[in-house]
Amino acid sequence: MNNKITESTAASKSAPPLGGGGGVGDSVQVFAPATVANVVCGFDVLGFAVNEPGDEVIMRVTDKPGITISKITGDDGRLPLNPEKNTVSVSVKHYLQSIGRADIGLDIELHKKMPIGSGLGSSSASTVAGLFAIKTLLGDDSDPIKLLPFAIKGEEMACGHGHADNVAPALFGGFVLIRSYEPLDVVRLPHPKGLYCAIVFPDVDVPTREARQIIRNKIYMKDAVTQWGNIAGLVSGLFMGDIDLIGRSMHDVLVEPVRSMLIPDFYKMREIAMQTGAVSFGISGSGPSVFAFTKDEETARQITQKLQKHLTGIKIGSQAYVSPINDAGPRVL
Ligand code: HSE
Repeated sequence: MNNKITESTAASKSAPPLGGGGGVGDSVQVFAPATVANVVCGFDVLGFAVNEPGDEVIMRVTDKPGITISKITGDDGRLPLNPEKNTVSVSVKHYLQSIGRADIGLDIELHKKMPIGSGLGSSSASTVAGLFAIKTLLGDDSDPIKLLPFAIKGEEMACGHGHADNVAPALFGGFVLIRSYEPLDVVRLPHPKGLYCAIVFPDVDVPTREARQIIRNKIYMKDAVTQWGNIAGLVSGLFMGDIDLIGRSMHDVLVEPVRSMLIPDFYKMREIAMQTGAVSFGISGSGPSVFAFTKDEETARQITQKLQKHLTGIKIGSQAYVSPINDAGPRVL
């Protein structure tokens, strides 16, 4: 399926009424999923969604034009209630302006159900939940691809760079390739049934902004050759349903060697995961979360248990999640 955003960025100038055309009225609650960006070898161009964790947004229509944020939970006070500084409200505001509906009044509650700075696309899940909520309130059931540029802007605000490999899979579900950023061209990829993902978040803070600053800007041709061979192998494996090809393609010679230094016992965790039957192992997004692909749920559970046990042994707390690939993306609760 080819979702060239170049066909969809020009947002509709029509001004649909709230709750019209199949909308749900004046309030809606939306869940948007966590995502694993990069998928090891595809820095900034590959990502997929998981069933859990994720964030929830409750959006209510108000009488007064403009956006307020009345409540944020689960963030330990880290996120701004100021609607000019919060990625959810800013993205929604820009979207409303683009469709000529800045007259709408909205109040937002954001319920963070996933750790911030975890490498699981925390800000993306919130932003996508907000954008999907306003689309739903407007009764707009068209392709959500038109929301993507606004979600990317939110990402830019959150970490200083507008990458799409978290927001795109959070918005569409499934596996997503960002074929190009300029012009934006997004491709939804198939994936084999039975592919499971084990995620462990070691409780250390790795802000994406900082994890991007330590990456080298120049790379050697021989490393580029290795990397694009692996990306092509991974995408081929996804199309062919060949989990072994997927596994042996998931190696990263560009980013992982640098970022792994920010993650406690990264290589030991890889060894544990691979010995327990993982197909592949790597950093989720910018870390510190790590993930493994497996061929079944039970192996994924064993991996999370062993990794958590190891982290406890080195006095680091952790959270774990096991999920198949989430093909649904955001959903109204
Ligand atoms: N591709 C981005 C990065 C994802 O690795 O910095 C951040 O979650």
